[in-house]
Amino acid sequence: VDEYISNLFGGHDEDLANAELAIIESKIPQISISPNQGKFLHILTRIIRPKRILEIGTLGGYSTIWFAKAMPVGGKIVTLELDPHHAALAQSNFDRAGLKEAIEIRIGKAIDLLPTLLTEGKGPFDLIFIDADKSPYREYFQWALKLSKKGTVIIADNVIREGKVIDPESKDEMVNGAQKFNSFLASTPGVTATIFQTVGSKEHDGMAIAIVD
Ligand code: SAH
Ligand code: DHB
Ligand code: MG
Repeated sequence: VDEYISNLFGGHDEDLANAELAIIESKIPQISISPNQGKFLHILTRIIRPKRILEIGTLGGYSTIWFAKAMPVGGKIVTLELDPHHAALAQSNFDRAGLKEAIEIRIGKAIDLLPTLLTEGKGPFDLIFIDADKSPYREYFQWALKLSKKGTVIIADNVIREGKVIDPESKDEMVNGAQKFNSFLASTPGVTATIFQTVGSKEHDGMAIAIVD
């Protein structure tokens, strides 16, 4: 079905195709968002019209490019990545796509970089995408809130994990991270939130979406 959708609506973008190929040919994990998910986030971003985007978890920059191409002129993205090899590949993908000016990669542990963004006055962001390591998702969300303003949209990938989040006995660290995040999100005052499930070329999963009231 995912192929059916991309055959109909996939189109062709040279920059995304080049990035996708560079990621496939590299040794980095093949866990970028899917093309159809990218298109969905792209449309959502065009609706939001964000001037500033924050991404936590760059990998090869595939999701970043989908966001960058949806931003209004002059929009900026800050994207956080722990692994310098991933960051280097992402940087080459951004440079090739002519997105050098629009995207700033910061290398390090997100939990250390997020406070710096706040003290530097890099925020508030209009759109925040959480997609790094899953255990500290709750903490990332708390920092995301500090870097938000009224109307900021916060999206978090991988919060359903093939439905394993409904198992309270799960010992899987990534599942536990999602469970902690999901229940925290649900009990956070001042945000309106839900989760939509995702199916397709990746495993059954889901993304949380929240808007700051
Ligand atoms: N958003 C990307 C996929 C990100 S995969 C896309 O869809 O195209 C998750 C990334 O988070 C990996 O590159 C991984 O190296 C990075 N990561 C893992 N732990 C991290 C941490 N503590 N801080 C920042 N990035 C981290
Ligand atoms: C994993 C991480 C992701 O961000 C993703 O979209 C899929 C899988 C993982 O670490 O297994
Ligand atoms: Mg993900």
